[in-house]
Amino acid sequence: MNKTEYLNRLDEQKKIQELMKGDKYTLNFHLIPPSGWLNDPNGLCQFNGVNHIYYQYTPFDATWGMKLWGHYTTEDWITYKEYEPFIFSDIEDDRDGVYSGSAFIKNNEFYFYYTGNVKHTDKKYDYISAGREQNTILIKSKDGFTYKEKKTLLKNIDYPKNMSCHVRDPQIFEKNDNYYMVLGARDLDDIGCILIYQSKDLENWDYHMTLTTPEKFGYMWECPNIIEISGQTFLICCPQGVEQQGIDYANIYQCGYFPLELDFEKKEYKFGDFIELDRGFDIYAPQTFLDGNNRRILIGWMGIPDADYTNQPTIDKGWQHALTLPRELKANGKKIYQLPLEEYKKLRGEVQKTLDCSAENVELNFEFTTCKNFNLTLRDSISLTYDGSVFTLDLEKCGFGRKTRSVKLKNLIDIQIFLDNSSIEIFLNSGEEVFTSRCYSKNLEANPKFSGEYTLNDFKWYELKKF
Ligand code: FRU
Repeated sequence: MNKTEYLNRLDEQKKIQELMKGDKYTLNFHLIPPSGWLNDPNGLCQFNGVNHIYYQYTPFDATWGMKLWGHYTTEDWITYKEYEPFIFSDIEDDRDGVYSGSAFIKNNEFYFYYTGNVKHTDKKYDYISAGREQNTILIKSKDGFTYKEKKTLLKNIDYPKNMSCHVRDPQIFEKNDNYYMVLGARDLDDIGCILIYQSKDLENWDYHMTLTTPEKFGYMWECPNIIEISGQTFLICCPQGVEQQGIDYANIYQCGYFPLELDFEKKEYKFGDFIELDRGFDIYAPQTFLDGNNRRILIGWMGIPDADYTNQPTIDKGWQHALTLPRELKANGKKIYQLPLEEYKKLRGEVQKTLDCSAENVELNFEFTTCKNFNLTLRDSISLTYDGSVFTLDLEKCGFGRKTRSVKLKNLIDIQIFLDNSSIEIFLNSGEEVFTSRCYSKNLEANPKFSGEYTLNDFKWYELKKF
């Protein structure tokens, strides 16, 4: 969809937006698409104090379709501006979709790298090896809103010969006077991996190395991010094709990270064990960036590709999916901790200590002195249970067919919960574990009820304003 086609359909968008207005499940303090469908956050960056949030966007179809890059900005993380889509599909090399990618800022200029998707429907093509092109494309921009040209940097033929046609989602970073590009990939033996390219000028890229685990961990790794927090390197990525093991890897595709030892010069590396970033039902394709205060900020997609969302109630209202609350990442050794960005506190009303909580959009905080077990229900339909070793979120009554997600947890020290009209984010033990999910309760009043064997040091809640 090029810009002219998009502009010609804006009346359609107005109609969808009318439908959306009447939706009780619209979100009040999370980003949702202006209309239609949203998936991965893209191109996250801060430029002259403005944070840019681009995202995979299908404006006129709530159930997937041709991808563009939608665009929001924020300076304070509580007020957001919406702009017209930034990248349209308008060249041969991105004719079937402007897929995910990232931004890199150098000398006051944005460098956007993304995957131009091209599908070949001709039968003679084999889906895995030749059915599509995944072109790595560069856009340079002085302002994040306009650009002059798209330049294809890498095509299928440039990727290593043992790669399938699934190579996508570039991320760029600088290290030791070199630039590196990381791409998610699937090789011809169906092994998920990461390709690393190297460049001196951000435009000419040479293949450097491939990273994968000693034992196969899924057939495809999407949306890679190599980051460093407190001296520890991590590879965040989304492996597909990992078998469920008990309560682990319970979603169709995974979202997590490997602690990594990586020597770029010697091309040596060692993977630590994969750790799930979030234990909820709806989390995928997280992207991170450093803001002006050197905070490592993560935003994820509250959704998962190919998961069964056919009964998701917002589809009838013309939209689907949302982005997570922005979170700040910290590391404790090889473990990442996530906490909502401080700025959300500006959405808080007066602090409340009573058990009587009829508000709908709330933040709830529990701080335990001791906790043997604990049981909490919210909205008469969401249940959270801690039995002394496992914490479980149960959405059977409001998850359109989805049931439970769990995590092992030695101690329960604190719980922080964010309830928006149709989402819940639960942070346990100051960000040690997180559950992100969409949920569709009939009654939206928080109405917390709790029981168990515990002593509470503090319980408080705040009503949260709409942003
Ligand atoms: C992840 C993903 C990416 C791809 C994009 C397409 O959700 O499949 O790998 O670039 O979405 O929308």
